[in-house]
Amino acid sequence: MSSTMIHPVEPVRLLPDAMLGALAGGNSRYEKALGDLGGVYRDQLAYRAALDADDGEPAYWVESSTLDEDDGALTVGVSSVRPGRIGDEFAMTRGHIHARHDCAELYYGLSGHGVMLMETLDGESRAVEITPGVAIHVPGRWIHRSVNVGAELLTTLFCYPTTAGQDYDVIGEAGGMRMLVVGDSTDGWTLRENTDHTEYRR
Ligand SMILES: [Fe+2]
Repeated sequence: MSSTMIHPVEPVRLLPDAMLGALAGGNSRYEKALGDLGGVYRDQLAYRAALDADDGEPAYWVESSTLDEDDGALTVGVSSVRPGRIGDEFAMTRGHIHARHDCAELYYGLSGHGVMLMETLDGESRAVEITPGVAIHVPGRWIHRSVNVGAELLTTLFCYPTTAGQDYDVIGEAGGMRMLVVGDSTDGWTLRENTDHTEYRR
């Protein structure tokens, strides 16, 4: 007779406001500094100027909890994007499509003001505002990235199938996403077509 070990499942807790963007019970963290984001922003002069003035703090970071790699397992975490602009573009994550294209993801706004920019491989674009209490269902087959269009830290709770995987190259190989999230004349945000964009090759 074989014995089965049952792993205790620790609760995943969001920490209070003083530690916005932190997760209790997480077992993975990664962060990206501005210097890791070469090619993400279209305005290279503005990017280099921002690098010269950079304080070395992460531009965004992700803390998550993954309990196992089984088919059907979920990864739950918190993503945090610092505010800022590089040229006209607002601060953002690299963005990705799931390596398993059919895998969806749920985001839930915790703090700040953002936009979830989503595009399909064949030409659809959507931008959905993220504010506290708003849930965003990113279906499978949509490239997605978080953009901070506010003045505060943008934090979102997310949940996706652990086996989804992330393909981060899909955007860079196409010269960026089809749409850019840029400032408008009233301190808000708007979308502008990215003239560097070529079609996605996947
Ligand atoms: Fe994702």
